[in-house]
Amino acid sequence: MKIGIVGSGNMGRSLGILWAEQGHEVFFGSRNAEKGKATAEFAGRGTQGGTNEEAAAFADVILWTARNVMPKHLLSHPEVLASKIIIDCNNQDIPEGFAYPPIVESLAEKLAQDVPQARVVKAFNTMAQEVFELAPEPLKNYGVSVFVAGDDEQAKKIVMGLAQEIGFSPVDCGILRNARLVEGLGDFIRLIIGCQKQGVYATISVNVLPSTSGQRLGGRQTSSLN
Ligand SMILES: NC(=O)c1ccc[n+]([C@@H]2O[C@H](COP(=O)([O-])OP(=O)(O)OC[C@H]3O[C@@H](n4cnc5c(N)ncnc54)[C@H](OP(=O)(O)O)[C@@H]3O)[C@@H](O)[C@H]2O)c1
Repeated sequence: MKIGIVGSGNMGRSLGILWAEQGHEVFFGSRNAEKGKATAEFAGRGTQGGTNEEAAAFADVILWTARNVMPKHLLSHPEVLASKIIIDCNNQDIPEGFAYPPIVESLAEKLAQDVPQARVVKAFNTMAQEVFELAPEPLKNYGVSVFVAGDDEQAKKIVMGLAQEIGFSPVDCGILRNARLVEGLGDFIRLIIGCQKQGVYATISVNVLPSTSGQRLGGRQTSSLN
């Protein structure tokens, strides 16, 4: 698969290297072509680097790491993104005291509105960069969830595959609107990592438990509440 990285910072560099290790063709893009090239040089494994424009034109799948910067402001030809998959890994800026306003529109939905012909998928926003250092081994052993939300089923499947390849356990979170909840999880894990001093390796995962036939507690009874 051809993967373009928009913004060669911590997330872009880490995920780009991990996907290149899996045999994907990766192009590191940046506002500064020299930085994109230097990132590719660091990454090795046949990766290329240059501008964000080049990354977007090269790829079938684009990792968008420029927080809240919309394609029409970053690319001179945003139409190049038509029908491509854009993975939005962004979280909003942390407000003073973690006093977040309610999320009524996710960053991923904003991105999708800016480039309606692209297939935007929310993913990879609920773990710290340091977690990627463990991928794919020994990460695989820990069942760390990547929450994936998007309106295009095929695009979502591809992103889930990309998550699985590098040692994560993808969780289908339904439509793109659910990115509001996924971004809320990203905000929450940063509270736990930063504010509560639990350590950068803290993650949020879905645990699948065995079903029980037991009625020890009376079982689930009819309720009018969800
Ligand atoms: N780091 C983490 O642990 C982590 C984990 C989960 C999610 N996230 C989220 O992922 C996103 C990226 O985080 P990061 O850690 O990779 O940040 P980062 O190291 O600062 O990289 C972000 C990149 O975005 C580009 N960028 C920044 N401002 C821009 C602007 N005004 N216009 C265009 N491009 C701009 C820059 O790329 P160039 O300089 O190459 O142009 C920058 O290197 C953030 O939304 C963050 O909340 C981060």
